[in-house]
Amino acid sequence: MPNDTLVAAAPYLIEQRYQDYTVDDHAEWAELVRRRKPQIETHACREYLDGYQIIGLAADRLPNLKNISDRLRPRTGWSTTPVSGFLPGAAFFEMLAARCFPVTTRLRSRDSLDYTPEPDIFHDVFGHVPMHAHKVFADFLQHYGEVCAAIDDATALERIGRLFWYTVEFGLIRQDGKVKIYGSGVISSQGECTNVIQGGCEVRDFDLDEVLETPVRVDRIHTRLFAIESFDQIYDAMREAGRRVGKAV
Ligand SMILES: [Fe+2]
Repeated sequence: MPNDTLVAAAPYLIEQRYQDYTVDDHAEWAELVRRRKPQIETHACREYLDGYQIIGLAADRLPNLKNISDRLRPRTGWSTTPVSGFLPGAAFFEMLAARCFPVTTRLRSRDSLDYTPEPDIFHDVFGHVPMHAHKVFADFLQHYGEVCAAIDDATALERIGRLFWYTVEFGLIRQDGKVKIYGSGVISSQGECTNVIQGGCEVRDFDLDEVLETPVRVDRIHTRLFAIESFDQIYDAMREAGRRVGKAV
């Protein structure tokens, strides 16, 4: 089991007590999926939609993380690993490097259906995990963890963190002449997604240097995001960022 290799993350690993979810919890999951589905079907990229089918997400009940891992592991080596909440950097990077994606088992509260700053299973699974079925994205994400686990310079970590933010969390991709979404923060958020669709956000061509120079703002909706042409582009960008480590990226 990959979990045996985790040291820094070990104190945060928990079990998903699936039987403890209530009828109300499953109904809330169903409502969250129903609210996001129309935009996702039209605006999510092909790879996300394929991954959604591959990992077997259900519209009417919370995901069982073990079942998702059983589908992902033979395909890309990733698992969805339940954790107790926010992880320190060392634990988070160690998990990514081991292809274990940390997932919160808690569901957001009913009064935070649109947005919650707390980790929750809807953002983590619905937002992130479908992309882990895509081989190139899966390799990119693992390499990100591996590189970051070896960095101890705070400036370098902040800069390379922007690559994560503008890809994994808020990434866009051009497909079929349109801007499509794959970043979990756009996938799981009605407000961010609507902002992209309605042109409230400048969409720049992805450029590693520009991404590394663009500070993360968490206090307002995004006004500038970056679109890739293919997932090979962020795989290559991650390799390049890894080569630059030591020069503060
Ligand atoms: Fe996220």
